[in-house]
Amino acid sequence: MQITLESKPFAAIETDALVTYVFENGDVTQGRAGELDKLTGGLLSRLNKSGELTGKTLETTLLHAPAGLKASRLLIIGAGKRDQFNSITLRKIAGVAVRYLKSRGVHNFVFVVREGNTNEDTAQSITEAFLVSDFETDKYKTEKKNDKHIDTISVAGHSDSEKATAEKGMTRGRVIGEAQNFTRDLVNEPSNKLTPRILAEKAEAMAKQAGLTVEILDEKRIAELKMGALLSVAQGSDEPPRMIIITYTPSNAKPGAPVIGLVGKAVTFDTGGISIKPADGMEKMKYDMAGGATMIGIMRALAALKPNVKVICVVPSTENMPGGKAQKPGDIQTAMSGKTIEVLNTDAEGRLILADGVHYAKQLGATHLVDAATLTGAIVVALANVNVGVFGSDQVWTDKLLASAKATGEKMWQLPMDDEYREFIKGSFADIQNIGSGKGGGSITGAWFIREFAGDTPWIHLDIAGTAWNDDAKPWLAKGPTGVSLRTLVHLVMSF
Ligand code: BES
Ligand code: ZN
Ligand code: ZN
Repeated sequence: MQITLESKPFAAIETDALVTYVFENGDVTQGRAGELDKLTGGLLSRLNKSGELTGKTLETTLLHAPAGLKASRLLIIGAGKRDQFNSITLRKIAGVAVRYLKSRGVHNFVFVVREGNTNEDTAQSITEAFLVSDFETDKYKTEKKNDKHIDTISVAGHSDSEKATAEKGMTRGRVIGEAQNFTRDLVNEPSNKLTPRILAEKAEAMAKQAGLTVEILDEKRIAELKMGALLSVAQGSDEPPRMIIITYTPSNAKPGAPVIGLVGKAVTFDTGGISIKPADGMEKMKYDMAGGATMIGIMRALAALKPNVKVICVVPSTENMPGGKAQKPGDIQTAMSGKTIEVLNTDAEGRLILADGVHYAKQLGATHLVDAATLTGAIVVALANVNVGVFGSDQVWTDKLLASAKATGEKMWQLPMDDEYREFIKGSFADIQNIGSGKGGGSITGAWFIREFAGDTPWIHLDIAGTAWNDDAKPWLAKGPTGVSLRTLVHLVMSF
């Protein structure tokens, strides 16, 4: 998909569709909408008066062969109340434009940004939104709707002096949008097409192409390094585990500078192991590698964006299967750090593999940690599919992340980590146990378990179990993987 800037006056633009947005109770005779209203002989005003064009959030009004314009269609999207309008709404509007027009066989359109939406950040966010909304999950469908695709989007409404910075934003937006879709492609793969070995191969290929350093630890190396927590999960499967390490080093790297460690859970399929999950809905557990895929996608973006800080991405990957050699409830395992773990539920496997991932990232030099994981069903109970659950050991570090989430339009909500919750995972027969002792707070005890391995290193945990998968197609987003938290973490790294 090509995304460019359009310079022609609105009336002269030849396109399949001209798109803009209007506000609820807004004056359609003002600003960019006003210009279009005038060109079309007051069309927008008439529709607004008749009640057909209200500006209610994501309302779509499609007009064919609008008089006064060279465009074949005029699509007007509702932007809701002006005082509640923000970049999240604008992203949705851009996404609705893509999906609405694509489904009607339109191949190119011109998106007119409203006055005040012409800065660099806005150009970046709508570019991301165009790419992210265009993503489809039809890879394995043999009959593709090949005629339904958008080739070119032009963005109009910038003054000549605004164009250079808008271009910059669009370039960055393309890198990030494509990285997010790269992650979503990985998450979409079923477990027979994406084993830990295949994920490692794909990560390695991406890293080499992007000019990043990459190392893949196989099951032998993992055993030599005594990553007992990762191995304990892997032992129930015929597929061997992998530990994926991708490193970005800035050209001006200085000794003693911060190093960010990004650790992602990549369970390519989670049956629950011996504590097996119910059959209903189990197919969704192919997305239990979304945290790892997110971190790999972030590295892809960073290779192009070149931040000033070193970043180490560590992705432990395995299946969680109930094979004959599988670990059993009550088994005691020794993590790489030396801590002993009582495995009371083999379905709480994410925290086990992250224990070794986090410890290894620290050993490699990480001074600031973030992990992302589809960790708990409990986070869906707490926050549904709306907010990512955020947990942190250091409020300064956590606040930085929350600011990045806000800036990139990703909804995240911090949950508490009082010491009282730590008591829930004190072990009876080993140092710690992998589930809380039946007093609720499932997402927090999961976070505390990982924190035990982060120690004093500032650490953030993102529970993306509720948000990494979109159950129902939205007018701006396909059903399936979302790639959530990639944008926030890229922003966080870039802010160093
Ligand atoms: N992969 C699951 C968490 C999950 C649930 C992801 C729903 C996506 C959607 C995780 O490994 C798991 O099974 N967690 C258990 C933990 C429990 C045994 C303490 C859970 O949430 O039920
Ligand atoms: Zn599980
Ligand atoms: Zn899992």
